[in-house]
Amino acid sequence: MTRLIEIAAVGSRGELGLNGDMPWGRSLKQDLKFFKEQTKGHPVLMGRKTWQSLPGALPGRANIVITRGVIDNPKALTYPTLEEGLAALEKIEEESGNDKAFIIGGGSVYAAMIDKCDELLLTEIESTFDADTWFPEFNHDDFERTVLDTIEENGFTYSHVRYVRKPR
Ligand SMILES: NC(=O)c1ccc[n+]([C@@H]2O[C@H](COP(=O)([O-])OP(=O)(O)OC[C@H]3O[C@@H](n4cnc5c(N)ncnc54)[C@H](OP(=O)(O)O)[C@@H]3O)[C@@H](O)[C@H]2O)c1
Repeated sequence: MTRLIEIAAVGSRGELGLNGDMPWGRSLKQDLKFFKEQTKGHPVLMGRKTWQSLPGALPGRANIVITRGVIDNPKALTYPTLEEGLAALEKIEEESGNDKAFIIGGGSVYAAMIDKCDELLLTEIESTFDADTWFPEFNHDDFERTVLDTIEENGFTYSHVRYVRKPR
């Protein structure tokens, strides 16, 4: 079974997005590097709006995009339901001998998938932001929390935090 990991950056109230981008824009360069290091070589699954927020397909990763519509880019592997996207992800993982995949947003996909995830990898930013999209609330008691590092960048302080789900 593929290990499913939700990776997200959040403000201190769970803020995720504003007007189709992250509320802090692309200002956290070290966090973008962390995201790339963690996800490189693994499939990433996302909603259509998150796909549209990216400059293009994420290289070195199968880009699985959930949409009821059509995306005119052969690098987007599109599926009309989450179930079909997950089945495709499992197949890619089986074929590559890999064992983990990342859910990379946005709010609607994190919310739909959080109960299926084995792990959350959150960038917790110690600031509040205007937002129109939030990370779903979750029961912290269900997870073991480990702070991996704390970074100061561009006037922001943030920590990379790993939440591993306890045995159910
Ligand atoms: N802070 C972070 O780490 C982070 C990460 C990712 C995204 N974001 C932000 O989050 C925002 C986008 O999040 P969002 O919740 O608005 O949108 P989203 O989850 O990225 O995309 C929603 C779209 O995905 C498709 N979709 C989702 N679930 C589906 C399902 N069960 N069946 C079929 N289609 C489904 C639909 O596309 P169609 O309408 O085409 O059918 C839906 O309109 C942006 O502001 C983005 O910058 C932040």
